[in-house]
Amino acid sequence: MGHRFSRWQQDSQQIHNDVTQFLRRTIEEKQCSVRLTWLEDLKEYRIREGSQSISMLGLCATIVKLSAPAMPANANAEAAWNYHELTKHSYTSVRTNPHFLDFGNQPLPFKIYPALEPSRMPTEVRQTGVAALSAIAGSVPAQTNAAPDLEAVAQLLYLSAGITRQRKYSGGEIYFRAAACTGALYEVELYLVCRELPNLQAGVYHFAPAEFGLRRLRAGDYRSVLVEATGGEPAIAHAPLTIVCTCTYWRNAWKYQARTYRHFGWDNGTLLANLLAVATALGLSAKVVCGFVDATVNGLVDVDSQREVAFSLVTVGHDSALSAPTVPPSQTATRALTEISPLGFETVPLSREEVDYPLMREMHAASSLDSPEEVAAWRGRTPLGNTGMPGFPSPAGPVVRLQPLSDGEMPRDPIEQVILRRGSSRQFARTPISLAQLSTVLDRATRGVPADFLDPMGSQLNHLYLIVHAVEGLDSGAYVFHRDRGVLECLKHGNFRDQAGYLGLEQQLPADAAVDIFFLADLRPIFDRFGNRGYRAVQLEGGILGGKIYLAAYAQRLGATGLTFYDDEVTRFFSPHAEGKSAIFLVAVGHSGKRRLLESE
Ligand SMILES: Cc1cc2nc3c(=O)[nH]c(=O)nc-3n(C[C@H](O)[C@H](O)[C@H](O)COP(=O)(O)O)c2cc1C
Repeated sequence: MGHRFSRWQQDSQQIHNDVTQFLRRTIEEKQCSVRLTWLEDLKEYRIREGSQSISMLGLCATIVKLSAPAMPANANAEAAWNYHELTKHSYTSVRTNPHFLDFGNQPLPFKIYPALEPSRMPTEVRQTGVAALSAIAGSVPAQTNAAPDLEAVAQLLYLSAGITRQRKYSGGEIYFRAAACTGALYEVELYLVCRELPNLQAGVYHFAPAEFGLRRLRAGDYRSVLVEATGGEPAIAHAPLTIVCTCTYWRNAWKYQARTYRHFGWDNGTLLANLLAVATALGLSAKVVCGFVDATVNGLVDVDSQREVAFSLVTVGHDSALSAPTVPPSQTATRALTEISPLGFETVPLSREEVDYPLMREMHAASSLDSPEEVAAWRGRTPLGNTGMPGFPSPAGPVVRLQPLSDGEMPRDPIEQVILRRGSSRQFARTPISLAQLSTVLDRATRGVPADFLDPMGSQLNHLYLIVHAVEGLDSGAYVFHRDRGVLECLKHGNFRDQAGYLGLEQQLPADAAVDIFFLADLRPIFDRFGNRGYRAVQLEGGILGGKIYLAAYAQRLGATGLTFYDDEVTRFFSPHAEGKSAIFLVAVGHSGKRRLLESE
């Protein structure tokens, strides 16, 4: 031991001498203003400038810190696990939560810029005539040259985030929107970043659903900022228009507290399901982009990122004449960040006061990407994308083949009609749906989402587990969906209406539906590949698939509703098959009964 200690002393003395000599030489050669001073009382050299000094050890530590590549916060998925665990619902958590709804402090459902006049958009809905079930299932090939005009932009915005119904209630008026949203609180805002389009000048715009108009925040073509922020994502580089979706914490947290960060993915996702379907019907390619430098995009749309944050981007259209970026991303990102000046437009406060839930902001910060290089390395290469891959065993139990309707047999109601007809079922009649209807819902909703985190196209992060109550030709019981084989594997037979009602936060809707479709995901490989941001991706995918299920149900004149759930109990119910997975999303499908206004969630 003594020998080893003296060896260590000798080595460190040697290093100390070498560093001192090196510094002395460098200071002389470069004629630096700092001095190297021996302090007798401390028995050490210190580097001094004026009254400031630093020890050799301190200097070495600073050099190491500056030269070592900083470990990106996103890579350490502890934050996502922590957030997920702390925001689980359980029988106890629901009963011990003292939270109540303060209607006097209810947030405004709209973002209002009092000093900016919106320019109104055309309100006439152009009929594409494209069957909803085709629009949901398909997508326009990425390289198809097409750009939206103002009418198409209006249609995309109206059918994804526009006000489609309004109802009075004792506390005021609810403005229901085209896509389902938890609590009808509508925390997702949309911004356009476009070049000049027919009847729309180049700029950055905020969509104002109340006026059905656009407020121009910046004039000019700012798309290069997004190209830089996404590390040169090709879909962004070729898009005449990209829509930035942001989420506002307080608007949803007023009711759902810290669980709201999950809702960001759900509610942004249902909106994107509509948007993707309408883009397809209009012959426009579209791609969801989750990888971007957060600070740059937040800066471009000028949000106060303590309150509102960019959550996803979606490209609309393709122009092959636009070239991919040629400058190395790191140079351009710095430029973008310095060029984008803050706007500081006044906005109307959402409430008298806002309650902050730091857990969500921590989750967001930990899943943020800081550089274009980090973004470029983040996207693609989806882990365990298909049900045939490890972690998703081949069927071991009895299977039932799905019998989806063919293109010729399916209902042909156009997408715009189906979106306007949609509204969450407030009550289900306990009457059965057919196996063909269920098969068509599952088949059409899961044919793939064009997204930067789903690579190759057709990969899926969530697995679908079902509780079947009333489907003709299918025994009641619990099933898992093998998408690659087009079969449902039975996990257990039985009447599980009561359990389903309990799992769906003790509500009547999941007990009365014909089928409850739960999404579960193995978060481990997702976090290994995508870090904390994988949590955004898996929730967003849940929302998109859930939104597609809504549309596929309404296209067949069925009803549907999203639901929330007791997390761990859901996993337990589908185990051992679902062991280790996490509950992400729940949507119930059936024949709608009499409608009521708003259920408690
Ligand atoms: C992800 C998700 C979860 C939901 N959870 C519930 C729920 O637990 N209970 C309920 O009654 N409604 C639930 N809803 C339905 C919303 O309340 C409904 O979408 C909202 O009031 C807007 O109405 P609309 O869908 O009819 O347009 C949920 C919706 C979504 C998208």
